[in-house]
Amino acid sequence: RATGGSGETSNPTLGTLSEIRTSSRSTYLMCAPDHFEVSYIINPWMAGNIAHADRTVASQQWNALTSAISAVANIQLIQGRPGVPDMVFTANGGVVRGSKVVLSRFRHVEREAEEIYFARWFLTRGFEVLRLAPHLPFEGAGDALLDRKDALLWFGHGHRSDVACAGALSQLLDIEVQPLRLVDPRFYHLDTCFCPLEGGEVMYFPDAFDAASQAVITARVPAHRRIIVSATDALYFACNSVNCGNHIFLNRATPALVATLMAHGYQAHQTPLTEFLKAGGAAKCLTLKLNEPFSNADSVRS
Ligand code: ARG
Repeated sequence: RATGGSGETSNPTLGTLSEIRTSSRSTYLMCAPDHFEVSYIINPWMAGNIAHADRTVASQQWNALTSAISAVANIQLIQGRPGVPDMVFTANGGVVRGSKVVLSRFRHVEREAEEIYFARWFLTRGFEVLRLAPHLPFEGAGDALLDRKDALLWFGHGHRSDVACAGALSQLLDIEVQPLRLVDPRFYHLDTCFCPLEGGEVMYFPDAFDAASQAVITARVPAHRRIIVSATDALYFACNSVNCGNHIFLNRATPALVATLMAHGYQAHQTPLTEFLKAGGAAKCLTLKLNEPFSNADSVRS
């Protein structure tokens, strides 16, 4: 369990790939905000917020999220570094499936220096570390979200990741990839507006997608599994949530969304992340799932 410190891992018995994979609990990679700040603008949320994030408050908020998640899951830590203030958003380190991780290649030079730190973390723990072609931006589990029921990788493009990554991702991770085009700059990563839940539902904000992608979602996800969020909830970053079992950890949600989630069997835990919103991130961005189980469809195939 994480204690909120900045050490590489607070539980040495859960360090390696095989330990992560065989754990019965979900395991998330997180990075304490010791070096977090808003020092450049690469998304609309950061505009007007340079030097406005309070690191003390950010630490309190991160600790609260971490201890809430720790009640139901394991947490691994990667050490933050000076000069890479967005490294707290570990979702962008890569995307993990089984023993493989496809590392990110950031679109913006401001985040490039994070790549080597994430690469080292995965290499030292025994992951098979994979990369896409050098010219293709790819921002990991910010844009590549495993469906929680089916063997399917939802892949957001249009702002950060390049749509041309889809084929290689499918080959490297041996999974079907479904691209979705993002059109609203405020929802620049797929995980800001789309969240697959363990029961097979997807919680999402339709207006963040182009018409063709909205139609794809409607065609692939039956109506009773589509949880559509309002603009208010989308702007609270409610879709940027961490779903572990029947628990959903998120920055904030309207009573209406909390009730809808409850009707689907989920308990929403609101844990304010306002300092991270100033950088354009919230609960899901601050985590990277390291041991998403293979789906039923996979076990039938293999
Ligand atoms: N400031 C960061 C960026 O613009 C925020 C990243 C949030 N991460 C995410 N997975 N949505 O890259």
